Amino acid sequence: MSLRYDGKVAIVTGAGGGLGRTYALELAKRGCKVVVNDLGGDRHGTSSSTSMADKVVQEIKSAGGQAVANYDSVEFGDKIVKTAIDNFGKIDIVINNAGILRDVSFVKMTDLDWDLIFKVHVKGAYSVTKAAWPYMRDQKYGRVVVTASNAAIYGNFGQANYSAAKSALIGFANSLAQEGAKYNIVANTLVPTAGSRLTQTVMPEDLVEALKPEYVTPLVMLLTHDSFTETGKVFEAGAGWYGTLQYYKSKGKVVPNATVEDLQKNWSTITDMSGAKATANMRDATADIMEALEQVQQQKTSGGGSSSTTGGS
Ligand code: NAI
Repeated sequence: MSLRYDGKVAIVTGAGGGLGRTYALELAKRGCKVVVNDLGGDRHGTSSSTSMADKVVQEIKSAGGQAVANYDSVEFGDKIVKTAIDNFGKIDIVINNAGILRDVSFVKMTDLDWDLIFKVHVKGAYSVTKAAWPYMRDQKYGRVVVTASNAAIYGNFGQANYSAAKSALIGFANSLAQEGAKYNIVANTLVPTAGSRLTQTVMPEDLVEALKPEYVTPLVMLLTHDSFTETGKVFEAGAGWYGTLQYYKSKGKVVPNATVEDLQKNWSTITDMSGAKATANMRDATADIMEALEQVQQQKTSGGGSSSTTGGS
């Protein structure tokens, strides 16, 4: 059965080209009303025009869909959400996709390179989602996607600004997932790989051609559908491959009253990943610390001092 979005209203930021355009077209094809947001600037975030968003709105309308253009920068999320409310009366789906690059080695990075990247990626996602949030809470329905990058997780040469901003978005979505849970607001992170205006500077031409944005589109459709209830997760897509990412933590070791020499001596056990456990939330993440605290306190009361490993199977 085909997944439909009839009666739903979506904002897709940066939908004038690349990945965002494909999300807007596909949502509209499946019955969603779409705000096609795009500032229409260059890939470094220094100019603007209305033509990119207009072109996509035209494409949607020619195919019989419903869409409206918005040309505001994502920093002004209230204006973008107002476009949705004024034209379609509600907002159900926010796809934070707009992005720019200001790649430069850290030694040459300027404050402007840092600030513009944070303004578009982090402030932008915050601002649009913040303006949509009260509507989503009131109607007890929302689907939010933020767009991160492999650079967020692994870092990338020349992308200290971009990787820092993209990793901020993962924490942002994970917190929204928790705050939105009781209001049926689902928030997830997408890590895409696709040929686009943005990646043509860093990928060979044949790869840009081969890695079609359309390969990423079905995953974003799924993440924004009302049947999808997984939240606070990171999903990846590119070239027809789809997957998910999770954190793992080493079993570690409790070393009571450790000195730096004790840590050096125990380092291979502390960092041994063979018994690593997946950590899905704050409780999982702090379980070993809490257990260690108990052990340390018990040892204090019993006057003992030997070390032991934490965690179990
Ligand atoms: P793209 O350059 O084709 O699309 C980005 C769009 O955002 C452009 O149309 C641009 O005009 C718009 N935009 C830029 N600043 C804006 C602002 N302040 N307000 C509104 N719109 C603005 O690039 P692509 O590849 O489609 O990127 C989409 C998202 O995916 C970006 O967030 C990017 O960082 C992310 N990404 C892309 C990857 C890829 O392999 N293509 C890899 C990892 C992340």
